[in-house]
Amino acid sequence: MDGNIGHRSYVKPSQVGAKPTGPMLGAEITGVDLREPLSEADVAAIRAALLKYKVLFFHDQDISHEDHVRFGRYFGDLEGHPVTAHVPGAPEVLFIEAADGMKITDKVLPIARPANKWHTDVTFREIPSLGGILRMRKRPPTGGDTIFADTAAIYADLPPDVQEKIETLDAEHDIIRSYGYRVTPEKAAQLRKDYPLVTHPVVRRHPETGERHLFVNHVFTSRILGLPEDEATALLAYLLDRVKAPEYQMRFRWNDHAIAFWDNRATQHYGVLDYWPHERVVERVTVMDTERPRR
Ligand code: SIN
Repeated sequence: MDGNIGHRSYVKPSQVGAKPTGPMLGAEITGVDLREPLSEADVAAIRAALLKYKVLFFHDQDISHEDHVRFGRYFGDLEGHPVTAHVPGAPEVLFIEAADGMKITDKVLPIARPANKWHTDVTFREIPSLGGILRMRKRPPTGGDTIFADTAAIYADLPPDVQEKIETLDAEHDIIRSYGYRVTPEKAAQLRKDYPLVTHPVVRRHPETGERHLFVNHVFTSRILGLPEDEATALLAYLLDRVKAPEYQMRFRWNDHAIAFWDNRATQHYGVLDYWPHERVVERVTVMDTERPRR
């Protein structure tokens, strides 16, 4: 917070600290109370930590929806979602009951649980989001962890011939691939109109760090373009499989009032659906990016 002593202005140094949660990615953030407005120095420290650690965790933050929205807005404009519900009266706070915002019942469990849910958020958009800020609202007694993967490390470890092959390729991303089966045909037709198929580079360069990231995901990427179909299908399956390797991941066990903030340009995540018949509710604020992914 800015202050004044006599004629001299000073800036209070940030108390924000970051403690890595694992060798690959993730850090716990201390020295900040998200129920209060943040100083410029605190926001700068959190932004720097996000770029360095890719996903940040905050504990004991019993924030209101207004606090959640205010915190998100320090990092960019916020967006809603065309399918996932939001908190009544707070269109920027998504209300996520289970995989893809779907409420789990014994009828949908057999469909939902086996589906691999590794993803980067909203890559069906021309400009996918910068980040997601998730808070635990209703925690199951055990389970319901979220796993994060570092897509720069995954790219860096690919064999050189694969890196060379994919560095000029684009892939198609499709909203219907993920949401089509749980909306009416009319809603699916409207989604297709509002969100035409979009292409992104298979490898994107992070706009701030310059790191290269694998940028295909199981939920939205429908195919790799510019190769014979068999080769494209096998290549996509190979790349998606690399995301599942535990070496690139960290697993977050939620506490009440915990918050996770991920860099959506640098990571993929997976909400583990192992808690049925208990319930789990999380709420997400989604920070918009300002430019399309580029090589
Ligand atoms: C999300 O994909 O935004 C939610 C992840 C989770 O439920 O852990």
